Amino acid sequence: MTGNTLRVASSPLSPLIGECPAMEALRLEIERAGRSHAKVLITGETGVGKEVVARMVHAQSLRRNRSFVAVNCAGIPETLLVSELFGHIRGSFTGAYRDRIGLVRQADHGTLFLDELGEMSLSMQAMLLRFAEAGEIQPVGSDAPVGKTDVRLITATNRHLPERIAEGTFREDLYYRLNVIQIRIPPLCERGSDILILFRFYLQQASVAHQLPVPDLSPCAEEVLLHYSWPGNVRELKNVTERLVLRDTRHLIVARDLPAELHEGTTVTQPGTAEDADTLPSVQGPTASTAAIVDRLWEQLAAGHDFWNVVHRPFRVHELTRGDLVALIDRGLQHTLGSYRALLAVFNLPPSDYKRFHAFLYQQKCNLPVRRYRNSTFARLRCGHVSEPLREGKCSTPIQSS
Ligand SMILES: Nc1ncnc2c1ncn2[C@@H]1O[C@H](COP(=O)(O)OP(=O)(O)OP(=O)(O)O)[C@@H](O)[C@H]1O
Ligand SMILES: [Mg+2]
Repeated sequence: MTGNTLRVASSPLSPLIGECPAMEALRLEIERAGRSHAKVLITGETGVGKEVVARMVHAQSLRRNRSFVAVNCAGIPETLLVSELFGHIRGSFTGAYRDRIGLVRQADHGTLFLDELGEMSLSMQAMLLRFAEAGEIQPVGSDAPVGKTDVRLITATNRHLPERIAEGTFREDLYYRLNVIQIRIPPLCERGSDILILFRFYLQQASVAHQLPVPDLSPCAEEVLLHYSWPGNVRELKNVTERLVLRDTRHLIVARDLPAELHEGTTVTQPGTAEDADTLPSVQGPTASTAAIVDRLWEQLAAGHDFWNVVHRPFRVHELTRGDLVALIDRGLQHTLGSYRALLAVFNLPPSDYKRFHAFLYQQKCNLPVRRYRNSTFARLRCGHVSEPLREGKCSTPIQSS
């Protein structure tokens, strides 16, 4: 067995922490999925909790007392993946000294969780499709299927599969076959103050594990945590708490104790009264060349061209950098006071493009947290040209060329 590709359900269930409406909705979706045997496709950025959710669906289903077999499809070379999943016949390849039944049959009457589905090769996708359609198993080296299994398939990916289908790297028929119940897990930066709840939970967990006092967070440290984009989501947050517990023996974590990357997109300024020794984030402006590019894009958008043509396409062929994209989104969110829906109208996109637009920004890690744009002080300072607040989903002020 390769590395850590197989994990079984006997490991304790990780908690699903979070109180924001999106997490409450997620719990309901898990419960609903638990009531059926239908295939589930879990989507969401890396580290958002896809495996946690898959295990919860299994634990709430009638299969809870049977096996949960988790396979990371990205961690195994293709030829090995086939024999790991479907087994092999003795002598079918060098090193196949005995018959092996494979993980699919080990999961019979239980749940098979295939993680990193988006990384699967096209030929592996074809094999998975055959299995997903008929439930038949054909071990490597066997001329015919050896039988059927009753396995619930749960798959997960951090890729935007419709985009991969458009590129020709993912099979559309497999997508429809697996996407019976879709559960989308929101990125951490969309979960508001859940960030602090999770941070405190994992601070406590790490402190108990290392027998160290549980530190508290200063208000400025909380601000930094809330403004950070958390590209690695909960996994990254968990690692940061552990590092802090091990490094910091004080009882209060202040902003400057947080790792440098958490101040991403912010410059740290020392407050006038150094007594507190805490720090506050402020937004860093784009470089002169990025600003000029953003001005040009802004003009093209103002002239009625749409985002896919003037931004997405040049970005795909590397004519625009991620920094340019971030700066453009930053300017757009200043304009709409933090509304992504209003940004759609500003970028001349129909409301039906919302999911695709959002998915693209997530994928490129350009989904800037909106909190700072909604803050009234920020709005006054940064959006002087916007005279009245824009309502969510509406952009009443026309885009202005600068
Ligand atoms: N809502 C949550 N509450 C508490 N812990 C969580 C939550 N979501 C994720 N975690 C923790 O974060 C870590 C990453 O979760 P998980 O492995 O499920 O993410 P993933 O989406 O499958 O990541 P990847 O895309 O890299 O496979 C795990 O340690 C998990 O316990
Ligand atoms: Mg995972």
